[in-house]
Amino acid sequence: MTSRLIVFLVLLFNIAFSQNPLPLIPKPKELVQKEGDFVLNKGTLILIGNSGSNTEIKLFNQFLKSAYGFELKTTNNSKSPLNTIQIQVENPKDNQSGEYELKVLNSQIQIFSKGNIGLFYAFQTLEQMLPIGKTAELKIPCIEIKDEPKYVWRGMHLDVGRHFFPKEFIKKYIDYLAMYKMNTFHWHLTEDQGWRIEIKKYPKLTEVGAWRKGSMVGHYNDQKFDDKKYGGFYTQEEIKEIVAYAKERHITVVPEIEMPGHSQAALAAYPELSCTGGPFEVAMQWGVLDDVYCPKEATFEFLENVLTEVLDLFPSEYIHIGGDESPKTRWKNCAPCQALIKKEGLKDEHELQSYFIRRIEKFLNSKGRQIIGWDEILEGGLAPNAAVMSWRGTEGGIAAAKQKHKVVMTPGSHCYFDHYQGEPKNEPVAIGGYTTVEKVYSFEPTSKELTEEEAKYILGAQGNVWTEYMNTPEHVEYMIMPRMAALAEVAWGTSDVSKYQDFQNRLIQHFSVYEAKGINYSKALFEVTSKVSPSDKEQGVVFLLKSTKDGIHFTTDGTNPTAVSKKYEEPLLVSQSQTIKAAYFEDGKQKSAVIEQPFFITKSTGKKISLENQPHGNYGIGGSFTLVDGMRGNMEKYGRDWIGFWGKDMEATIDLGKKQDVSKVTVDVLTSEGSWIYYPKYVEVLVSTDGKMFRSVKRVAVEEIIQQKGMASMTFDKQKAKYIKVIAPNAGKIPEGKPGAGSDCWLFVDEIMVE
Ligand code: ACM
Ligand code: ZN
Repeated sequence: MTSRLIVFLVLLFNIAFSQNPLPLIPKPKELVQKEGDFVLNKGTLILIGNSGSNTEIKLFNQFLKSAYGFELKTTNNSKSPLNTIQIQVENPKDNQSGEYELKVLNSQIQIFSKGNIGLFYAFQTLEQMLPIGKTAELKIPCIEIKDEPKYVWRGMHLDVGRHFFPKEFIKKYIDYLAMYKMNTFHWHLTEDQGWRIEIKKYPKLTEVGAWRKGSMVGHYNDQKFDDKKYGGFYTQEEIKEIVAYAKERHITVVPEIEMPGHSQAALAAYPELSCTGGPFEVAMQWGVLDDVYCPKEATFEFLENVLTEVLDLFPSEYIHIGGDESPKTRWKNCAPCQALIKKEGLKDEHELQSYFIRRIEKFLNSKGRQIIGWDEILEGGLAPNAAVMSWRGTEGGIAAAKQKHKVVMTPGSHCYFDHYQGEPKNEPVAIGGYTTVEKVYSFEPTSKELTEEEAKYILGAQGNVWTEYMNTPEHVEYMIMPRMAALAEVAWGTSDVSKYQDFQNRLIQHFSVYEAKGINYSKALFEVTSKVSPSDKEQGVVFLLKSTKDGIHFTTDGTNPTAVSKKYEEPLLVSQSQTIKAAYFEDGKQKSAVIEQPFFITKSTGKKISLENQPHGNYGIGGSFTLVDGMRGNMEKYGRDWIGFWGKDMEATIDLGKKQDVSKVTVDVLTSEGSWIYYPKYVEVLVSTDGKMFRSVKRVAVEEIIQQKGMASMTFDKQKAKYIKVIAPNAGKIPEGKPGAGSDCWLFVDEIMVE
């Protein structure tokens, strides 16, 4: 063959594979696909070399049995290597490395692994390569794989405090982690709304603390409740069963026992551990509550006793001690707390929290364990050996790594699976946010801000599943699938955002697996997504639509799109107010829900805008342009079109391009106390013709904004202006008695419309 022909054939081969990549998630580190297949059948023998453990083989056989109705026999020596799966485990006692090699040849499958984890992962890969459902032949394509994970913490969290999920579902959840080679299950066991772990020494924790009189219905903002008794807990026997089940799948269960905040259920059972003495009820309302453990000796004795039982149940190196969202309100007004601050020479209540965590760390370290806590444990100084779980962005994690502390990255922006994953209108009620599969996939756990040495402290990444708005196992499945698949590849270390399309092609093939297993997954991936960008024309913005495939149809007259509506071919220039509705169609059939985007085109739309302070990374991806993109933030669901400032003021300057008459400016702002979002103190408009000298023309006070439900509408005498400045000062600190009291307020702003 001439070399040109070889190149051509190789290309052809590659194209064939790139069109239908093997549905492997996470993608292996090295993978070479070969010609031909191995055919697995009842006669295939598993040939065990020196494998010390049969658990991995048992689990593979369980899979075969449930998927295809047969199991494979094992043997120590076979007359012939034909039709065998040959296993070589280098060191069966090695329980650290997930390294493995998998060779699928026409006549034999070979697995080499460092330890039993690698063997387990090789079988997971094999399972993903087998056909879904019963087929005439179980063909596995020939391939050579060399694989190992990049990060040691590939986690999923589950909050069982807000809603309780039975043991059977917890096992399913662990199966999902195993399927994607994740290795850490962070089990959030205690909350204001329920204590879920049996502690023999303190029976009231579950007799009282596991039950609440009712729950919130609908969104927090609606403040509605039912009066149904709700609760549940896991017995120690059940917990042992779960931990053992996870262990077989090489998953570590990290329990979280929250302190000092999020502890109202415990205080309802033992009010003497609080500052005020109570009485308390197990909370019905979501959010952040003021009553937290008082750092007195009785509290430490209680927590040490609780943790002693926890340590007996969970062999994990790390114990999660919470540490997040713990208001200092009660401590400020508590004589023993203030006396302790004096006695220990602490500066303030933040240092008192730090003292609290350090004492618990000392206790756990003395038992040979390490603590991990949410990034608030940085405030007032980190405990000497603590690991940090960075959730309010990646900043806390970066700071901790620079201080040589281990870090798990779980920023709200990419790793919170309680956020919306599609157009909020088409989704079940969620807390807020907007985190698509693609967004999750784009996450990079190791920030570029870290040196190579500092980067070693990044243990990995984790998806968090807070369940205020998920009260059934099916709903949890819907929120995690398929986003956890994207995160699994990120944490395995083989994600590549520039090849998102390749990931998506593999993922869509997994949807059939979900269907075969009866997993309730989200199809939001097929939804048309949109992006708006500045236009180079004088007026308006450019609206870009995207779906998984070509086939978007849209309307601009308010009617719902059909297969014969105009086909989307290129980005749309939107230069007048209108509503665009779009959906994805295949073979004349509608395949996605309709997305709907109203545009409000005014004199400021698409114009140059600059901000004095930058918005927070979690709520500011679109940057300043968000304020003039023609799309007003959805008032109910603050997921998308807003930018958020944490503790900072908003000051925006818009360049209208030329001098013109203006007489009205409208600004949208948001309030949501449960999410710490407050209206600004006021909103003020200033105008200028040269961009230097600004004149104030109107100001609206917060009272009026409240009356207008978040719309700051400012009409004034006609002015000549080329520049418009809008100032909206942050409300400052969250007032006493509100969720998050004492913390900085968030300020959420959207469209600035100039007429
Ligand atoms: C958290 O989401 N409060 C850690
Ligand atoms: Zn106190």
